Amino acid sequence: MDWGMKNRLARIFNPKSGKTVMLAVDHGYFQGPTTGLKKPRETIMPLLPYCDSLFVTRGILRNCISPNTNTPIFLRVSGGPSVLGELSNEDITTSMKEALRLNAVGVGLSIFVGEKNEDRTISNLGRVVNEAEEYGMPVLAITAVGKEMARDARYLGLASRIAAEMGAHMVKTYYCEEDFEKVVEGCLVPIVIAGGKKIPEKDALQMAFNAISKGAAGVDMGRNIFQSESPVAMIQAIRAVVHENYNADEAFKLFNELKEKTIISSVVE
Ligand code: 5RP
Repeated sequence: MDWGMKNRLARIFNPKSGKTVMLAVDHGYFQGPTTGLKKPRETIMPLLPYCDSLFVTRGILRNCISPNTNTPIFLRVSGGPSVLGELSNEDITTSMKEALRLNAVGVGLSIFVGEKNEDRTISNLGRVVNEAEEYGMPVLAITAVGKEMARDARYLGLASRIAAEMGAHMVKTYYCEEDFEKVVEGCLVPIVIAGGKKIPEKDALQMAFNAISKGAAGVDMGRNIFQSESPVAMIQAIRAVVHENYNADEAFKLFNELKEKTIISSVVE
């Protein structure tokens, strides 16, 4: 591994814990103005100091994020279909040159294992890895789960292993209650979990704790942070689970304390 790749990975993963809290705000690339991201700048700016990297499209980056930020940028480079179309019909939408111009620490794209266009999306991953390695750019493969796919260890393990075999440096997948540790074991490279649909804060913290306990290297979480009743409190509680070994009860207590503080300071202002 050359210096550029090592340096980018060192900026993604916290040097003390070896883990990462990525904030996913790319949902609009196929869903349009998702709840919580209708005014992206207002949602994202208060959260930026608390994430290790921001997972984002170039459109949000250019229009809503100050270039003065020190938060590392992880760029989504795949897309194509909208939520109204065939979701697996993705291709590469953003070039490696663009990722370098935007000073990204990594690029991410989806693969759709078992879906209509699985072969094209897996080949996309191989091609992006070929190009990324020329420039020392880490690639995050996202095992997108289509409408019909079960989110069990067998499926997630299959999709994650294929991503690693294609050369992905990191994999984002979903958490499953049963045998998640086998998904991690079989993957060969670090796994971060997506949060999925909004669930109660305590449950999301429990899911993050379980995933970390079973070997995940962090989270790339979106809706369970930015759709929380207190996003700034929630991202700090997630950080405590990922980086400071808090269990779900301790993290939920922290969430409630920080939420109270946010309410009090907004009343004082
Ligand atoms: C969509 C994505 C999202 O970034 C991912 O789903 C993470 O967000 P959430 O925690 O809201 O699921 O990659 O394909």
